[in-house]
Amino acid sequence: MRRTGRKTTGSRSSRYGHFSADGAEYVITNPYPPRPWINYLTNGDYCALCSHVGGGYAFYKDHRFHSVLARGEHQRTSDLPARLVYIKDEDTGEIWTANVHPIGKFTTFEARHGAGYTLIQSSYRSVAVQLRFFVPQGMDAEMWSVDLCNRSRSERRLSVYTLAELALGNVALVQHEPFYQGLFHEARLSRNLLTATHKFHFTEGWSEICDPWPLRVIATSTCPPQRMLMDRAAFFGAFRGHHNPAALDEEWLPRGAPTPRDLVAVNQWRIRLAPGESWQTHIALAVQANNDSTSHVAQIKSLRRPATYERAWKNTRVFWQELFDSVQIETPEPDINVMMNHWNKIQLITNFYFGRAPSYYHKSQMPAMRDCCQDAFGVVPLRPELAGANLRRIARFFFADGQACAGCNRIDLREKAAIKVDLPLWFVLAIADYLRETGDMGILDERFPLMDGGESSVYEKMLAGIDRMIGLRGPHGLPLIGGGDWNDPANRIGAGGKGESVWLAEFVYLVIAEIEPIMRAKKDLDKLAVYRRRAEELRKIVNEQCWDGQWFVRAFRDDGQPVGARGQEEGSIWINSQTWAVIADISDQSRLNACTDAVERHLGTPYGLTNLGPAYTRYDRSIGRITCFRAGWKENGAVFSHASSFNVVARAMLGRGRDALDLYRRILPMTKDSTRYFMEPYVYAQFCAGPAAGHEMGQGAYHWLTGTAAWMFRAMTDYIIGVRAEWNGLRVRPVVDPAWKHFKLSRQFRGSRYEFNFLNPRGVETGVRQIILDGEPLEGDLIPLPTQPVHRVTVKMG
Ligand code: NOJ
Repeated sequence: MRRTGRKTTGSRSSRYGHFSADGAEYVITNPYPPRPWINYLTNGDYCALCSHVGGGYAFYKDHRFHSVLARGEHQRTSDLPARLVYIKDEDTGEIWTANVHPIGKFTTFEARHGAGYTLIQSSYRSVAVQLRFFVPQGMDAEMWSVDLCNRSRSERRLSVYTLAELALGNVALVQHEPFYQGLFHEARLSRNLLTATHKFHFTEGWSEICDPWPLRVIATSTCPPQRMLMDRAAFFGAFRGHHNPAALDEEWLPRGAPTPRDLVAVNQWRIRLAPGESWQTHIALAVQANNDSTSHVAQIKSLRRPATYERAWKNTRVFWQELFDSVQIETPEPDINVMMNHWNKIQLITNFYFGRAPSYYHKSQMPAMRDCCQDAFGVVPLRPELAGANLRRIARFFFADGQACAGCNRIDLREKAAIKVDLPLWFVLAIADYLRETGDMGILDERFPLMDGGESSVYEKMLAGIDRMIGLRGPHGLPLIGGGDWNDPANRIGAGGKGESVWLAEFVYLVIAEIEPIMRAKKDLDKLAVYRRRAEELRKIVNEQCWDGQWFVRAFRDDGQPVGARGQEEGSIWINSQTWAVIADISDQSRLNACTDAVERHLGTPYGLTNLGPAYTRYDRSIGRITCFRAGWKENGAVFSHASSFNVVARAMLGRGRDALDLYRRILPMTKDSTRYFMEPYVYAQFCAGPAAGHEMGQGAYHWLTGTAAWMFRAMTDYIIGVRAEWNGLRVRPVVDPAWKHFKLSRQFRGSRYEFNFLNPRGVETGVRQIILDGEPLEGDLIPLPTQPVHRVTVKMG
């Protein structure tokens, strides 16, 4: 049962764990890392957040309104497992938890997070337990396997209890008003089947319309439990808790009709194990439509057969393996390989499915369009068809005038129009990227409903978004910043209707360049000419009015004063207006290099780049909420991974390979000291505290849900290794650390596989001397569209 994790990836380990030999798992060897180190197990619909001790919660499609498992008291540092397995030694009466936490008695412990699953292995009193949690592909469920082995020399009489903490439907209400909401629960218990639903459901605010929750949760197992219980109060008892549930004082869980006010799903099995003997059960917690369909009955029957679980496990492994295989790299740096080949992809797909919404720490966010588009961009080379499907879904969240919805949820909920002005532009960027990858031009003519009635094509939505942006001009002729752009909490710069964004000007400039080939293909030349004129106007304004001698200012306030300008005591330089000047190629090389140098000089830290500097220490109403964050935290001077990853791209675009990789390494999570950083070493966090945070500098926060995953992935494939999809092939422009003498990339493209082998014998940063395609020298650096299933490309740098 126990698997050993030899560490051969070469990637560094932390005090609390290490990557597995193949890099596909992170193995946590100490049950007490500085924070819960978690995993997202998901098939895109059902999602289970699962910490290294089984903590977390679960939901179906939307964490706000279709909650399944409770988010317990884990909001800060504690982590009460939502999935718990108690063991009771019937001879001695001793109780412990196979998860180790919360009772904390254990002899050995190891947790393994992998793609779509988490394994927890522990032993105590010579009883070895393995818990396997996974979310199968194609089934709205989480599956648990409990495996016990008696490693002692005598027979053991044990009780095994599994506990799932339920919170059904609108999680905020259920948790804030548990007693009242409990009055709407409906639950049934029959032999080996628990069914629960909620009769009063709504998705927004208080409403007099009381529709039942359209879903129900069922639980069943392959090995029928002798007893089941649903009443939380009866399980824990008054004045007791997870450490000492009252029901475990007795031989059996109490019998009787369910009292479903406060719901748990508890099973009890009493077993006898001879020395060396094992016992196993599988349990499913599944979501079904709340109706009586015969397929539900069939599903329940199949969930009582072990073969169902093994088949589901196999399919899930195959899904993830195929995803891993779609793009693979091999570089001289194990940390980069391990991230790129496994964990960056796992994080990226999680973000892609649910946006930045279902966090372990913050609640109530909705999947924002800006983020969803960037995640789709990240996923494009991995699974273009999934990215395309998501972009089609996002296309439903536009208004006729080019405005976008703030959120684009998975449950057809009408969210409000966005205050943030930049959202529709990210859609253009993602669609253009998707088209270069797939050539699927048909998507442009596909029509989707508008939020305010009627419908329009994807292409029309793209144009409407740009038209709107072009119309929003301030006193300098720059785009109006309105309620904010990428920097959400800089929300007051344009509150009076005049504030302008320099970053947005650069972004619009880029977006026009991105849409140009599409408009040419559409023969929309008159409109294109208008866009080009606006782009040139923006270039002029940015260069003539926004260059501050060493860098670009970030914005102009309503009163016309610049934000992010030299000589200002606080916030004198903001990262994005430098980075995106480069990405948009809006200025000459010397300015682009100068502002990149300024970024490193003023915002550089050992962990990456801060969002701005010096951090604000006083509230500035003319800038907004960003100035209220504690100095060095969040957008106010924290080391912002997402913004840093944009800057990796910028450095590579300037041909500065050494610099790009130097920054890349600093952003990598495993290069940080876990005892200071706290967060997982296998996924990116949104930020870690910056220098202005004093002794807290380096503390990570907002793990997992960040655009960093998308941008670090594409920064490596497209800009450092430098293989980029274009309309008619793959452009090859490596920009690397001269120490990289040999590296590889394998990627799919338009139905074929391309195996790239890069040789850099002279140790240059950039420049291609020769490309050999399938044994023949190639003119130029564009690999043509595929003509056979596999193409082999040797790239000689120099
Ligand atoms: C978090 C948001 O999800 C992201 O879209 C935004 O750009 C950053 N905050 C920066 O403010």
